[in-house]
Amino acid sequence: MNNLTKPVAVLMVLFGQSVIASAQDITALTRIGDVVSFQESTKTVTFSCADSSQVQLTVLAPDLIRVRAVFTKAIPAIDHSWAIAKENWDVPRWSLREDQQSITITTDELEAVVRRSPLLIEFRDARTHQVINSDEQPMAYDKNGLLKSRMFDPSAGVFIAASKKLGFDEHFYGLGEKAARLDKRRSAFINWNSDTPGYAEGKDPIYQTIPFFIGLEKGNAYGIFFDNSYRSYFDFGHSSQRRAWFGAEGGELNYYFFNGPHIKQILGRYTELTGRMPLPPMWALGNQQSRWSYYPESMVEEVVKEYRERDLPLDVIHLDIDYMKNYRVFTFDGERFPDPRAFTKQLEQQGVKVVTIVDPGVKYQPKKSTELQTQIPRSPDGRYYVFDEGLEKNYFQRRANGALFIPHVWPGESAFVDYTKSDARKWWGDLHRFYLDNGVAGIWNDMNEPSDFVDQTGGNQRDVVSYDEGQKTTHAKNRNIFALLMARATYEGLERNRSDRRPYVITRAAYAGIQRYSTMWIGDTNSTWEALALNLPMFMSLGLSGEAFVGSDIGGFIGRGNGELLVRSYQVGFLTPFCRNHKELSGYDQEPWRFGKPYEDIIRKYLKLRYSLLPFLYTTLEESHRTGMPMFRPLMLNYQDDESTYNLDNEFMIGDALLVAPILKPDLTRRLVYLPKGTWYDYWTNKKFTGGQMIEVDAPLEKVPMFVRAGAIIPMGPAMNYVGEKQIDKLTFTIYPDETGSAETQLYEDDGLSPNYKTGAYRRISIKAHKAAQGFVIDVGAAEGTFDPGTKSYEFLIASYEHTSNVVSVIGDGKAHRLELK
Ligand code: NOJ
Repeated sequence: MNNLTKPVAVLMVLFGQSVIASAQDITALTRIGDVVSFQESTKTVTFSCADSSQVQLTVLAPDLIRVRAVFTKAIPAIDHSWAIAKENWDVPRWSLREDQQSITITTDELEAVVRRSPLLIEFRDARTHQVINSDEQPMAYDKNGLLKSRMFDPSAGVFIAASKKLGFDEHFYGLGEKAARLDKRRSAFINWNSDTPGYAEGKDPIYQTIPFFIGLEKGNAYGIFFDNSYRSYFDFGHSSQRRAWFGAEGGELNYYFFNGPHIKQILGRYTELTGRMPLPPMWALGNQQSRWSYYPESMVEEVVKEYRERDLPLDVIHLDIDYMKNYRVFTFDGERFPDPRAFTKQLEQQGVKVVTIVDPGVKYQPKKSTELQTQIPRSPDGRYYVFDEGLEKNYFQRRANGALFIPHVWPGESAFVDYTKSDARKWWGDLHRFYLDNGVAGIWNDMNEPSDFVDQTGGNQRDVVSYDEGQKTTHAKNRNIFALLMARATYEGLERNRSDRRPYVITRAAYAGIQRYSTMWIGDTNSTWEALALNLPMFMSLGLSGEAFVGSDIGGFIGRGNGELLVRSYQVGFLTPFCRNHKELSGYDQEPWRFGKPYEDIIRKYLKLRYSLLPFLYTTLEESHRTGMPMFRPLMLNYQDDESTYNLDNEFMIGDALLVAPILKPDLTRRLVYLPKGTWYDYWTNKKFTGGQMIEVDAPLEKVPMFVRAGAIIPMGPAMNYVGEKQIDKLTFTIYPDETGSAETQLYEDDGLSPNYKTGAYRRISIKAHKAAQGFVIDVGAAEGTFDPGTKSYEFLIASYEHTSNVVSVIGDGKAHRLELK
């Protein structure tokens, strides 16, 4: 197995890299030496091993312990990761005890037991001493180069791996963006950011790398974040029923262990460690339309006009690569968009914002060029200032021999910025003033795996050296973090240059931590039912991996769809944070009206419903920002004890209130829906159902089955054609009482645009209802925060199947109120 010939290796690359992942025999690797001594400091214990390796455990929080292992040498002083947002943790209470066999570190929640010989790490619950997770074999490294022939760049590192005992009934979740089911048991994956248009289920790797997973067995969960940006591998019982292992082609065996048992706690900590999503502008929750590509500007105006004339909501139009002058980023094509500022202003007046695509490829345009480009800003002499400046400042990536690295992307020969240099990031970020000055409202980062038409596996980039905090490391280490740093440069540039507005960035590729800088979409999907069905587990897994603002091209990107597929696609997309219809260059037009009136009418109904639901959706999104809990959730996140939810791929929840069971197959007008324990209300009829069972429901084309959890209250506003279209003077709260007659919710509001919410300029109120002798008592809590959303009335009604509820209302003035609803 270890002496693969080249052609076989190539075949493996072609036919899905999970073949490689599962074929790695990590049992043949060299195991770390026994513990010979250890040293304690305020928060770490460093173990020295017989083979001169070192292992360090750091206590960060009662439920968070970091493991760092370096083979045959001491742990280096340098300790840097682009993913980590929080480095300074208050050292929690912990203690150490040792005996002949082991050394045990104990916090209030966790016990980490390090066995001396062989060196095995086991995590236990500090209260019950029950084992949560334990090493199946000692951490290991490829001392003898057994796996060298399969590595992307054997000179860049040594293969390392950790192996954990596989629980008999253990399920696995997370890993960010994978074209796979929700439960990842029995699967193996590779992380290597890759441009994979038209991918289908099973294709791996695709665009992103989020090396974080959650293990769940019998209701108890733990999390592991393997913070290593080299090409990495995860095998969840794919190659053996004994182990779940992870490894990488270099770097340290550096992972964080999160104690549960609640997934919400793990996700909270993971997003504390790697950062949480800042709130995007509220209009980012609006409907978005894209096409590769709408141009000239008159075509964009036509599309907007259609939207408005057809009474279809629209907040954002995306300009794909053809708005540029010969694909030069930071330019507009002067013929297609002669006056970009006037153009964006004109759309602004209709309530539409413009998002432009910005790819990493900067057109390679050395001095001798004879082209005349009078259109290019700051280039009266025909020079392309972005290339000139980047070259002059030495911000572009170079090969080990010092030559400029020249990948081929849309502009042809190009250059990529070395975003590991902080001054290059600042320069790139500041270049976005060009867009801001032209009234552009958001930036779409694409092709940032980074894609190179010469070789999509990264082969052409192997000897590209990045500055990397002065370490001068190669592509093997830096590929997976390229997009993270590009998005960071973009986000920080927008923030710096327009500090009174929230940045809005969308990315295709990513590494862990991306949520601090960017929202995302899942790339080049197909216009097929299979691709639509795959949306659900992909969005849910992203949500379980810290990425809360997700979505995909509604209707699918590649190939010809049809009216039915488009409608069913909107019946998912109208509730995804990122709600955008987009289509490929040679694809068929796919705007909501393309397949005729019956389909358009249904799509209108759902888009309008999205806008009515904005108070609920925005409140839920703010929860994602504040706690890391995703808006678009798998049921198992809310019902962790219910094993029937563990591999539920075809239903989802929005927050903890709304359960949606879309139709994901053609010609289907009925489906089974699993409702977890409790009581549920059919959203459309208010009919009540008892949970803990499957029910069969009708779902004609115009209907997506939706249920509200009893105990929830859903705030809704008026239907609108764009965010801010009208002054909202009334919110309606529908109360769905539970078995005890109670229900509650929160409402979050802010100005939707500025970053002032970070300093308290928001209003949060809680609303509680309970059954009284006659009717219901409703308590509107006093407002928290300094934001005044203006006076509006709050109207309350009880969801009821049998009769129409009375309505009671009060002016929402931020003060506490008690109301009676009879
Ligand atoms: C690839 C992106 O995934 C797609 O959305 C875009 O339309 C094309 N690049 C062209 O920019």
